Amino acid sequence: MTIHRLLTRKDQLHESRLEDCQMEAKLSDGEVIIRLERFGLTTNNITYAAFGDAMEYWKFFPTGQEEWGHMPVWGVGRVIASAADGVQVGERYFGYYPMATHLKLTIDQVTPRGFVEASDHRQGLPAAYNYYTNYAGTDANSPESDYRILLRPLFLTSYMLSDYLIDNGFFGARQIVVSSASSKTAFGSAFCIHGNTEARIIGLTSGRNRAFVERLECYQSVATYDELPSIDRNSPTLYIDFSGDTQLRERIHQHFGNNLVHDCYAGSSSNLEFNYESIDDSNSKTRFFFAAPHYRKRVRELGGSAVLTAMDARQAEFIQALSNPDAPWVSLCFSEGFEEAAQVIERLCHNRVGPDEGHIVLLP
Ligand SMILES: NC(=O)c1ccc[n+]([C@@H]2O[C@H](COP(=O)([O-])OP(=O)(O)OC[C@H]3O[C@@H](n4cnc5c(N)ncnc54)[C@H](OP(=O)(O)O)[C@@H]3O)[C@@H](O)[C@H]2O)c1
Repeated sequence: MTIHRLLTRKDQLHESRLEDCQMEAKLSDGEVIIRLERFGLTTNNITYAAFGDAMEYWKFFPTGQEEWGHMPVWGVGRVIASAADGVQVGERYFGYYPMATHLKLTIDQVTPRGFVEASDHRQGLPAAYNYYTNYAGTDANSPESDYRILLRPLFLTSYMLSDYLIDNGFFGARQIVVSSASSKTAFGSAFCIHGNTEARIIGLTSGRNRAFVERLECYQSVATYDELPSIDRNSPTLYIDFSGDTQLRERIHQHFGNNLVHDCYAGSSSNLEFNYESIDDSNSKTRFFFAAPHYRKRVRELGGSAVLTAMDARQAEFIQALSNPDAPWVSLCFSEGFEEAAQVIERLCHNRVGPDEGHIVLLP
């Protein structure tokens, strides 16, 4: 069967190429074919591609082409063929997909809640990306569902980061400075932190996004990157870095000096390089935060269902606040097909997507 797919040039992430290729339609035992129906696009997808080698994101969906990769996305697809017990044609699953009309999966551990993708090439990759959630009971065409598709992968990090910081007593901080404060993962983190510490949460952002960040009810104050010197340097400060900007990091370290209690490197919206040096240096206060290990720790301690229930409840509150029809923080923006998806990707790469835009791509 012929499938259509959108490839990303690995060394020029704004460049995409649409192509057709063949997929063997015959299924072996345990295999299913899912047709992708809709997916979200944010800066996080660009970072997946930027860190494609360093964090092995290119390995999830091999293209067979050295220079072109599949930028992973989170979305919902419908099963169109199944040779796997417990998975029926017509069911929908939320999970990690390549930008391709179809994906063949080898599945395992099927429960009414979902299944695990067990292909050889995905063993050893973080388990969180190998789980596909049964979408039964959710109206996949509703705005609420689209907000979930857009935000779930981001909110998981926001929630787990907040949980990790609570676990560590916020490292004794009296103020928390968050860079790329207008990003959904950043203000989702601030939303989750809110009420769990007396430390002030300060959003650090670009001049053009300042008004947007001020409008959010997530930060107690807002400063632009240029205004960093105006932030109190005498208070024990925790830095949560979603920008990955190394010069900004240096300025933060210089400005707060010994009062910087911890530097949490959680994202890289403005830097396509994975910053090994800062996390390899044991003398540095910078520590890389990746949600997956903390999620596994919490699941071991509390059980999967308790963790998911608590996270889902908080996520529902976040989506309600963010999508409030009277004054939404983020509005859904729809694109159709891969050509339009490629345009959104190009705009994301060049920082031309407003923080109030939530992009969902619909496939016919
Ligand atoms: N560690 C994890 O497990 C994890 C999980 C999810 C997301 N993340 C990371 O969090 C970051 C934010 O992702 P998101 O999807 O939440 O972002 P988003 O909602 O698309 O927000 C984008 C914001 O990032 C900044 N930005 C984007 N592109 C830029 C560019 N080219 N140059 C400079 N600034 C740029 C701007 O914020 P300002 O104007 O405010 O600077 C922009 O408003 C990503 O790096 C993502 O990978 C990490």
